[in-house]
Amino acid sequence: MPNFWDDRFAEPGYKYGTTPNAFLREQAARLSDASQVLVPGDGEGRNGVWLAGQGHQVTAVDCSEVGLAKARALAAERGNAVAARLHTRLADLADWAPAPESFDALVLVFCHLPSALRRVAHPRLAEGLKPGGWLILEAFHPTQLGRSSGGPKDVDMLYTLVDLRADFAGRLEEVVALEGEVLLDEGPGHQGAGKVTRYVGRRLGCQGPGLSQTMRPAPV
Ligand SMILES: C[S@@+](CC[C@H](N)C(=O)[O-])C[C@H]1O[C@@H](n2cnc3c(N)ncnc32)[C@H](O)[C@@H]1O
Repeated sequence: MPNFWDDRFAEPGYKYGTTPNAFLREQAARLSDASQVLVPGDGEGRNGVWLAGQGHQVTAVDCSEVGLAKARALAAERGNAVAARLHTRLADLADWAPAPESFDALVLVFCHLPSALRRVAHPRLAEGLKPGGWLILEAFHPTQLGRSSGGPKDVDMLYTLVDLRADFAGRLEEVVALEGEVLLDEGPGHQGAGKVTRYVGRRLGCQGPGLSQTMRPAPV
């Protein structure tokens, strides 16, 4: 069966570059050393490989074998230790779920799913977090539609904070939440000013002080 992402990733180069997403880079300081990190929709691996380079054990799940092969090649370029920490899994998020409470962190960067699937997959992925585990997410906002700086051309695949709050209600405590414009410089696929939704949540069940610190720097 033709795979849209296999075709896209079969083109030369890395569609979204080989350096990590800026929001992930900023937020990853929250993770403990040698965390178990799940990265669904990791594509050609820029984020998973970077996390493996930071010493984390990374499981990258994607429905594109071409993307995952490029992720493994990128990890190998960065050395045997990095390659050994990147574990790839070919799967469709429609029928794959992590074991409950098995990961310290979940990273969803531009992993755009149709809303019917998103509403099922997001809570299921969050269930894979251990108590106190982190979700770091960035996705395009519906107001990105019509811009050429990247993202799906279907509003049903774009995310608002309202969507995310509903998806993760009862599972995550919101720590960072923002909808606004950022300047993207991520390979040929994401270039220029883009309207995004950013979210960091922490799996409920952990002990400790309250964490909420919602930020809204710019209206979309
Ligand atoms: C826009 S790309 C982003 C890739 C990567 N996260 C990045 O930021 O560089 C979206 C990725 O999600 C993956 N994806 C989309 N739908 C999926 C699904 N149902 N199951 C697994 N992976 C999926 C695609 O194969 C692709 O690699």
